[in-house]
Amino acid sequence: MLFGREDIRRRIEELGRTITGDYEGREPVLISVLKGGTVFLADLIREIPLPLRVDFMSISSYGRAAESMGRVRILKDLDEDIGGQHVIVVEDIVDTGLTLSYLLSVLESRGPASLEVCTLLDRSARRIAPLSLRYVGFDCPDVFVVGYGLDVGGRYRNLPDILAVEDQAAVTADPAALLPFLDPGAGR
Ligand code: PRP
Repeated sequence: MLFGREDIRRRIEELGRTITGDYEGREPVLISVLKGGTVFLADLIREIPLPLRVDFMSISSYGRAAESMGRVRILKDLDEDIGGQHVIVVEDIVDTGLTLSYLLSVLESRGPASLEVCTLLDRSARRIAPLSLRYVGFDCPDVFVVGYGLDVGGRYRNLPDILAVEDQAAVTADPAALLPFLDPGAGR
């Protein structure tokens, strides 16, 4: 186990307190990038006792070819205009930073009053695009992680803890491999 549910809960409380202080008197819009960031968003907003709104985007990467790296296609755009709004993009993890840097340039072009990032995990060892991340939950080592929104083959986003998977191929090949960790008592 890399980050247990209690560590996650406590860190989100701290992040919520910091964001609340920083945005007092304003009404931020928190944008989550589907799907991984939704679990974090759901817990984070309940630690921010300010008027706020949430919105969602769904994107798909064009792929890993050099000429298309970091180019994303918007599959579902925001419902609301963010012009003049104080925007916080909420992510579960930032790796290369390519997705986020493209997304930030798209959002910036819409004229928000401010634009910041809050990510639960920062796996900076994989960074390609330099980014300024205003709020970071945890620095994440360069390992494959799953749980608390992070998936393996679409599964296990509902794990309450974040696990480091040593043998990614084994877990991908055997979808049942992590089932014991779904037990509500596991990892406590
Ligand atoms: C993850 C994460 C970020 C992106 C970060 O999403 O939520 O959006 O990867 O990677 P990068 O920094 O290398 O660009 P993923 O593509 O796994 O989709 P998901 O949230 O639906 O699982």
